[in-house]
Amino acid sequence: MKKARTEKTGMLRKAMILVTGIFLFVAACRKDPSITGGDIVNGEEDITFVVPQGWPAPIYNFQNNTLSNEGFELGRKLFYETRLSRDNSTSCGTCHQAFAAFAHADHGVSHGIDNRLGTRNSPPIFNLNWHPSFFWDGGVNHIESQPINPIQNPLEMDETIDNVVNKLKGDETYKAMFKNAFGDETVNSQRIFKALAQFMGMMVSANAKYDKYKRGEAGGEMTATELRGLNVFTNKCADCHKEPLFSDFSMRNNGLPSTAVNDSGRGHITHAIADLYKFKVPSLRNLKYTYPYMHDGRFTTLQQVLDYYTTSAHNSGTVDPLIGANGIALSAQDKGDLIEFLNTLNDESFVKDKRFHEVQ
Ligand code: HEC
Ligand code: HEC
Repeated sequence: MKKARTEKTGMLRKAMILVTGIFLFVAACRKDPSITGGDIVNGEEDITFVVPQGWPAPIYNFQNNTLSNEGFELGRKLFYETRLSRDNSTSCGTCHQAFAAFAHADHGVSHGIDNRLGTRNSPPIFNLNWHPSFFWDGGVNHIESQPINPIQNPLEMDETIDNVVNKLKGDETYKAMFKNAFGDETVNSQRIFKALAQFMGMMVSANAKYDKYKRGEAGGEMTATELRGLNVFTNKCADCHKEPLFSDFSMRNNGLPSTAVNDSGRGHITHAIADLYKFKVPSLRNLKYTYPYMHDGRFTTLQQVLDYYTTSAHNSGTVDPLIGANGIALSAQDKGDLIEFLNTLNDESFVKDKRFHEVQ
């Protein structure tokens, strides 16, 4: 019964959204009906991970972490769980807000427990399954080991994994949710990280105007200005901010002058002089929601970013050859067109997707 229904919805879905690759993970029907408030929206359907049309294969494909509604729901509850922090004040969702495409709106640098300030800007969370590494310096290379850093970071959540496990393992709701997701009530760090990876890995943003344009769908009609902006983008930006993810995920120095913090970026991880001041190329999707910009949130508007690229890109030893000593040449018209194009990368359906919001 269950299987037949799943196949049917899978086929309908294929036909409807014309995807080239579908990864359909069938969840076993073992949900405890006594648990309320955790349903994914449209709870009739099994959650599926879909690779958008024309996109490369993801690096993380939930291999060894079978995706299920129950695992996803547990991951969502954990993402918004303040008990992951020492004084139960701060959750992942504090610094990664849904309406900001899971960046921290209007915060230059992160703001953690006891109002402690970090030194880096909270990156948005979406399309993580395509990232070969995480953080601005690529210091972590697996989505399932990433959450240990914010939990233990004294400026973020300042808690130990053992304490988190102890806080959650006596909680009846969690016991039932771990059982539903993983077969028994055991609460352990591995399961916490796998559930968080299911929740975050499902966050795919591929429904901006630009995507509809690429797929030839209604709503994807670009204006002449936007198309001129796309042309400038292709010539001046796309080598690093590579389509369709708008990043090649390499570590580069785009010429930002260093500040009093003197964040050495990738150099902090490798201790190699050649890596000084290199940072992971960020995606340019959803910029409307994710300001301020750069690894330390130094710019608030796209105009400031473009003015920076043309006039003040700074030649420190490791600056990328694509930027060079003189920055990127852009006329005022180019900048206006580029901003219009960048705005076609905002995906409102993603920030409004209730599946990723906190369950009230
Ligand atoms: C106090 C604010 C804060 C909290 C709380 C927080 N984060 Fe973050 N998050 C950040 C900052 C800042 C960075 C960038 C750190 C860096 O590059 O060194 C980051 C980076 C990330 C990244 C990497 C994104 C990328 O593009 O590389 C992921 C994924 C992430 N956080 C998930 C989480 C999860 C899961 C939690 C909860 C367990 C969490 N964060 C809690 C501020 C926070
Ligand atoms: C040499 C590679 C390279 C080129 C070319 C390049 N960028 Fe970047 N861009 C980066 C890197 C690296 C960062 C992050 C730098 C940091 O924070 O230290 C970045 C950051 C940004 C940001 C901030 C995003 C955020 O979420 O904080 C924007 C916006 C941006 N670039 C737009 C552009 C545009 C538009 C162009 C073309 C005019 C362009 N970039 C050309 C490498 C590049």
